[in-house]
Amino acid sequence: MLAAGTLTFGRLDRRRAFVSGGAQGIGAAIVRSFAAAGCHVVIGDLDIAAATELAGQVGAVPAKLDVTDTGLVQQVISQHGPFDIVVNNAGVDQHAFFTDTTPADWAKLLAVNLVSVFACTHAALPEMQSAGFGRIINIASEAARLGSRGGAVYAAAKGGVVAFTKSIARENARYGITANVIAPGPIRTPMLKQAVAKGGDRILEAMTDSTLLRRLGEPEEIAAAALFLASDQASYITGETIGVSGGMGLGG
Ligand SMILES: NC(=O)c1ccc[n+]([C@@H]2O[C@H](COP(=O)([O-])OP(=O)(O)OC[C@H]3O[C@@H](n4cnc5c(N)ncnc54)[C@H](O)[C@@H]3O)[C@@H](O)[C@H]2O)c1
Repeated sequence: MLAAGTLTFGRLDRRRAFVSGGAQGIGAAIVRSFAAAGCHVVIGDLDIAAATELAGQVGAVPAKLDVTDTGLVQQVISQHGPFDIVVNNAGVDQHAFFTDTTPADWAKLLAVNLVSVFACTHAALPEMQSAGFGRIINIASEAARLGSRGGAVYAAAKGGVVAFTKSIARENARYGITANVIAPGPIRTPMLKQAVAKGGDRILEAMTDSTLLRRLGEPEEIAAAALFLASDQASYITGETIGVSGGMGLGG
């Protein structure tokens, strides 16, 4: 609980965090902000070269990890843990109408975007429960709330992340563990660049027009919300989904 008069927003001294997919994009911004706040950060990413480079810059620890390999997730989290904070950020998108997708596409999208969240959470929770403290922060998408033309399975996976997070919040409140979701809108990252490269400027225009603020978000704007949710100041927030999306879906 937060003692009266303590406002040290954003400090994570003596905390230990695991960030999946932390080598680039939103995950990298989260790694940078957590490390700058005094947190010991472990970056779990497929791209070990990028993870190692970033880790060197900010004093974090890189770990080669495919989040769809449940056994490896368990191994990496027990080797580097225990963790106070887990950020389930790794994700992949695929732009195709549902009728053009295959069961193999569905399996991959669900594995990276949803089952990996189960795996990392399952591996980290027992230590959090013993410690009587934990922060689970899951990066979903506004697609969970609004759906996505050309991203039906992705949106379904992210919707699953929201429902899963609420359930984890319910089951773990008594251990002092909170679980929340951040739902980004269109954020300027390599993932978004790929989508634009495929769909052209019209996609970019549609994305910016879908926000009230009429612009893309920056990875640091998601990291700010993650830092808040990880901080002591967010001690009374759990089971929530925070949209960081420039007012996406509100029309305008
Ligand atoms: N960029 C956006 O506009 C946007 C919008 C909504 C939600 N999101 C979500 O935010 C999160 C981060 O997205 P981003 O835009 O930074 O993506 P990105 O593609 O730029 O970066 C993703 C990172 O995850 C890693 N990764 C991918 N698959 C992995 C796996 N199987 N195991 C381990 N690491 C893996 C990649 O190597 C990369 O470092 C994702 O969950 C994404 O769905 C992004």
